[in-house]
Amino acid sequence: MAPIAMRPVNEPAAFPDGYAVRPERKNTYKIAQIGADGIGPEVINAGVQVVHAVAKKVGMFKVDFTELDWSSDRYKKSGSYVPADYLDILKQHDAIFFGAVGAPDVPDHISLWGLRLAICQPYMYANVRRTKVLPGTTSPLSNLKPGDLDWCIIRENSEGEYAGHGGRSHRGLEHEIGTEVTIFTRTGIRRIARYAFQVAQSRPRKHLTYVTKSNAMRNGMVLWDEVIKEVAKEFPDVTMDSMLVDAMTVRMTLDPQSLDTILATNLHADILSDLAAALAGSIGIAPTANIDPSRTMPSMFEPIHGSAFDITGMGISNPVGTFWTACEMLDWLGEHEASKILMKAVEQTCADGIKTRDLGGKADTQEVTDAVIERIRAL
Ligand code: NAI
Ligand code: MG
Repeated sequence: MAPIAMRPVNEPAAFPDGYAVRPERKNTYKIAQIGADGIGPEVINAGVQVVHAVAKKVGMFKVDFTELDWSSDRYKKSGSYVPADYLDILKQHDAIFFGAVGAPDVPDHISLWGLRLAICQPYMYANVRRTKVLPGTTSPLSNLKPGDLDWCIIRENSEGEYAGHGGRSHRGLEHEIGTEVTIFTRTGIRRIARYAFQVAQSRPRKHLTYVTKSNAMRNGMVLWDEVIKEVAKEFPDVTMDSMLVDAMTVRMTLDPQSLDTILATNLHADILSDLAAALAGSIGIAPTANIDPSRTMPSMFEPIHGSAFDITGMGISNPVGTFWTACEMLDWLGEHEASKILMKAVEQTCADGIKTRDLGGKADTQEVTDAVIERIRAL
């Protein structure tokens, strides 16, 4: 597939979610389904059920899921998480619907790099993490109500602190060395900044806060500041402010209403988005989208939680994070109506008190799934 040219960046966002290249509407979307490890297959199975239900409700398209067994089990049997031609296999799909990777008997850096980063790092340079307090969920911040914390965090997803550069030498000796080299490139900063500004421009408040640490990190982070200020000139209708990452944790907690779209590096946004999920009430409800804005490769959608060994196989995992993830996937595919219906059904289910134990309810995974499907049909 030939790469699709980027839309000129100063052209106003042509569709509501600010994505860089328009989706192509299809009668059938092909989705790669990778449940992977722990509770991943369980929540993804629940997600597949609601996507079929909402597609049927809208009646304009079908979704064809291909189940791939890429997981820690595959790694333990064959020595590899993915087959050699895995990128070619993924390219035959419109999107990737991903559960979680990580097993108690495989080191986390092997599982993460073997599967999740192998898929996301080459092309999906924008990681998008939305937050909102859902009905029926209680934020630990006592003054917040449903609908608050409506943030969109844009995380640089391909370089920075997680570029994978570094090494170890003098192994086992007292003066053993381990380096983890942070990489920032002008190209990498510019493209993520343009994407973040487009998202900010598409949201009602048109405000972007970018996060940095350019007091202590005087090279790469100063380049980050400079490039973002250059890109800002292309978006005169978006207001902007900046924060040092340590002060940002305080602002998120004490002045959350002052934030809207947030741009940060790979490491900083990784941490800030877990804080955002916790402030919104639970890690079990938060979605992530790993986006290739050029649409050269299918983008990957996943709940932010991990494989949760402590509740694997018990049938009690919260599927809401995966349902919200499915909304993000439908939006990316251009199926905005289906996305809205599904989100509405999820919010109604939560408001009606049908929720899993992590949110203080009694329902199991399938009961929440059935309740959402019932509400999709009734809407
Ligand atoms: P985790 O997110 O798997 O679990 C943290 C806590 O939250 C656990 O008590 C768990 O039961 C609970 N929890 C998570 N998701 C839930 C859900 N949907 N419903 C109800 N409760 C839920 O994080 P942890 O324990 O640090 O990591 C476990 C494994 O997952 C590790 O191997 C880690 O590397 C991996 N991981 C993978 C991620 C991914 O694939 N994107 C992300 C985070 C962790
Ligand atoms: Mg994380």
